[in-house]
Amino acid sequence: MFPIDKFINRPTPFYYYDLALLRRTLDVIKETAAVNSAFSVHYAVKANANPLVLDQICRAGLGIDAVSGGEIERAIECGFAPDTIVFAGVGKNDNEINMALNAGIACFNVESLPELEVISDLAVKAGKVARIALRVNPNIDAHTHHYITTGLSENKFGISRELLMPVVRRAIELPGVEFMGLHFHIGSQLTDMEPYRMLCDTINQMQDEFEKEGIAIKSINVGGGLGIDYDNPDKNPISDFKGYFDTFNNGLKLREGQSVHFELGRSVVGQCGSLITRVLYVKKGLAKQFAIVDAGFTELIRPALYQAHHEIENISAAPGSPMETYDVVGPICESSDTFDKDVELPVTHRGDLLALRSAGAYGEIMASGYNCRRLPQSYAD
Ligand code: LLP
Repeated sequence: MFPIDKFINRPTPFYYYDLALLRRTLDVIKETAAVNSAFSVHYAVKANANPLVLDQICRAGLGIDAVSGGEIERAIECGFAPDTIVFAGVGKNDNEINMALNAGIACFNVESLPELEVISDLAVKAGKVARIALRVNPNIDAHTHHYITTGLSENKFGISRELLMPVVRRAIELPGVEFMGLHFHIGSQLTDMEPYRMLCDTINQMQDEFEKEGIAIKSINVGGGLGIDYDNPDKNPISDFKGYFDTFNNGLKLREGQSVHFELGRSVVGQCGSLITRVLYVKKGLAKQFAIVDAGFTELIRPALYQAHHEIENISAAPGSPMETYDVVGPICESSDTFDKDVELPVTHRGDLLALRSAGAYGEIMASGYNCRRLPQSYAD
């Protein structure tokens, strides 16, 4: 399935993107999100901002969820219309806010009262009115890795339900902002729909409360978080988008004219990307055999940072080669620079290419220059 002859002479490591799989994924997203005409999907560009990837997503008609001025600029450069961009993040600086105001983005997802006041001030100075949604911290446990759980009251994100109403009232009275509605995001890599059902219940309750107060909600943003199958990328290359959108379609009690926004990142791009790396040395230790490769956590930090599992394949090995066990490790001077331990691979030699699968999301974009390494190149086909 990899165009291996096109890989042979490329300098490694590099990211490879299977654009045909990305297009198939985008088709499924469009088909299944169409279950409700109020639904619109914003791609969370934090997952992957490679222009070749963004180009496909732009052509498919998705909007953008951005978390920095740089992401907004990248999205606009790649052809996304500013009025499809929503802008989240707990720490937006003044330059970013001004840039987003000037660009005319769709909505700011506001995470605190002081941020709300600054956006209103800057908008008034610019002679504009900023559309805003308030990010609610719904205190729902997404049961995912603690680093990527965001919707608990101990997390820094959003405003707790108990503290929300005064902020909504302030938003309604401030001159530089227009209150559009509520924003949520409970976490990432969710493979079970139950937390999303709980989120729908919370939103329904909150809508009732707001109605009693006579406050209209025009838009509801439910964030992202749909997971991918890291263990079986070939068997399940496309996430359960139908189950996901149906959960919201069945669970949310929408009012006339409301729009619902989704911010999907990982599930859009995760499976179309692989990190391709070359084996530098096979080293036999006392207890272990190491395949030392030329990529490290500088290119893919997920295993070191979240103990994440990525399937590893030797894509150079002849079919039917006998299997052996390796720890697949990188060249960085830290023990955490290990992609996986005790991996069964066909007998592996210096020069073989390995593919680290399901690396399209939070792979290339999280690369660093630690050890003065160059950022990875990419190749899309
Ligand atoms: N919306 C908001 C407000 C978010 O914070 C995130 C992700 C998303 C949407 C997109 O979530 P997704 O659909 O991709 O799950 N680097 C970590 C993941 C961090 C996710 C941060 N927020 C990883 O490699 O697993």
